[in-house]
Amino acid sequence: MRSALLIVLGLVIGIIGTVFAMNALHDREPYSHTVMTTMAHHAGALSAAVKAQKCDATQSQQHLTRLLETQSDLSEAFPGVDQPFKDEETRLREKTQAALAAAPADCAALAAVMKPIGETCQSCHQQYR
Ligand code: HEC
Repeated sequence: MRSALLIVLGLVIGIIGTVFAMNALHDREPYSHTVMTTMAHHAGALSAAVKAQKCDATQSQQHLTRLLETQSDLSEAFPGVDQPFKDEETRLREKTQAALAAAPADCAALAAVMKPIGETCQSCHQQYR
């Protein structure tokens, strides 16, 4: 009885271990998607706010902060990229930092700081996506 239980336990642990290993293997590639999807979520929320003409200063700051924080993972998500790619990453960081510093209080201000951010997303996608 006891040994049967141990065998079952061993099997379960084995399966869990395999699932973890497979996830770890998977994670490497699609992490780039995860980082991009997260950035798109926050940039999307900001554009939606502009479109709806409902721009809450605090919420804008939160989304911009998350947009900036997510960019810290770009080098991990895209290892071994060339210098022009890194330049695009730097430009995106600069535009996002500028947007945060501007602390957009209304939709006009938010739209103004989002424009250069959106242009940088687009510029990099045209070259690398
Ligand atoms: C430095 C270059 C670069 C910048 C800047 C950049 N992207 Fe991307 N993006 C890429 C690349 C490369 C891919 C394709 C990734 C892949 O297939 O693994 C991509 C893919 C995406 C995708 C598709 C994700 C998926 O699941 O396939 C979305 C959404 C996206 N980017 C949103 C954004 C947004 C929003 C911004 C600006 C805030 C942005 N990106 C800025 C390089 C960039």
